[in-house]
Amino acid sequence: MAIQWFPGHMHLTKKAITERIKDTDVVIELLDARLPGSSANPLLAELTSGRPALKVLNKQDVADPERTAQWLAYYNDQPGTRAIGLDASVATPAKALIDACHTLAPNRGGLAKPMRVLICGIPNVGKSTLINTLTGRRAAKTGDEAGITKLEQRITLEDDFYLYDTPGMLWPRIVVAQSGYHLAASGAIGRNAYDDEEVALELLAVLKRHYPGLLEARFKLKAVAAIADEDLLAEVGRQRGALLGRGRVNLQKAAEIVMHEFRSATLGRITLETPEEFAQWLAEGQKADAARKAKKEARVRGRKGQGDEGVLPDASGDD
Ligand code: G4P
Repeated sequence: MAIQWFPGHMHLTKKAITERIKDTDVVIELLDARLPGSSANPLLAELTSGRPALKVLNKQDVADPERTAQWLAYYNDQPGTRAIGLDASVATPAKALIDACHTLAPNRGGLAKPMRVLICGIPNVGKSTLINTLTGRRAAKTGDEAGITKLEQRITLEDDFYLYDTPGMLWPRIVVAQSGYHLAASGAIGRNAYDDEEVALELLAVLKRHYPGLLEARFKLKAVAAIADEDLLAEVGRQRGALLGRGRVNLQKAAEIVMHEFRSATLGRITLETPEEFAQWLAEGQKADAARKAKKEARVRGRKGQGDEGVLPDASGDD
């Protein structure tokens, strides 16, 4: 999918993480439990130099509990990694976070060696909400606009437990095609950066396959698996009275309805990907990416071979 996005203050955030990581014991990555693979920052492992990682599957209240369990098991199987599920209804999330960090970095603790934890996550994953709960503040500013930086803030969870916040960060290019759709469907990407109909069609394709019963119940449809994606979108529009006159369906409105009902979980508790699916998409994406890079290098070499030394670097922001 063509996503016209500028991934926010990526460079500033990268720099902040690189500087902070030297004095960090555990990195908490907040993931969206509805799309754990797609909401994981592929740059993070590199930036955090393999520090112990706590994956927090946030918004578990709107995710499919069975799939959340699969993702937790998947992460808990990885060395130096723990995973927990969380959501905003948990009134005191600090204990679970603190306990998991102590398991990951057992030598830290006490005033001489306080636990120093960095918390990262994509925009809209619920980081401000969590931090507000942790600090006991009223939701000061949720629903951040992309592009607004926050200065690094240190939150003292216990006398010997410091949490360092980083601004929400996306990455410059999406290698896994499905991730673009899933991130857009979840609300992580500004809405001007993608086409609503395209994202809604992809979302319907996933829902039709994995959650047909939820679609049928919510939109009063039958046998959705047999309906083509485009027709399904039109059916949703018709059901909801999104019409343009002369029987034509307002597909834009229908797309907005599908996305809104997914985001708000009025459709039900849904997770768009399993660990196995994501691993396969990632392998395919990386293969396609390697081929794309090789092609680009060959093109540059070809131009140089023709004596064109003045080739400008690619300005697409691709790399
Ligand atoms: P961010 O700092 O990571 O960008 O995210 P933020 O806390 O601003 O949360 C983004 C949206 O996600 C907010 O909704 C927030 O209410 C919602 N949210 C946060 N945590 C959870 C959770 O555990 N479960 C669910 N279901 N939603 C969560 P919003 O529509 O942007 O704002 P509002 O509805 O709070 O006004």
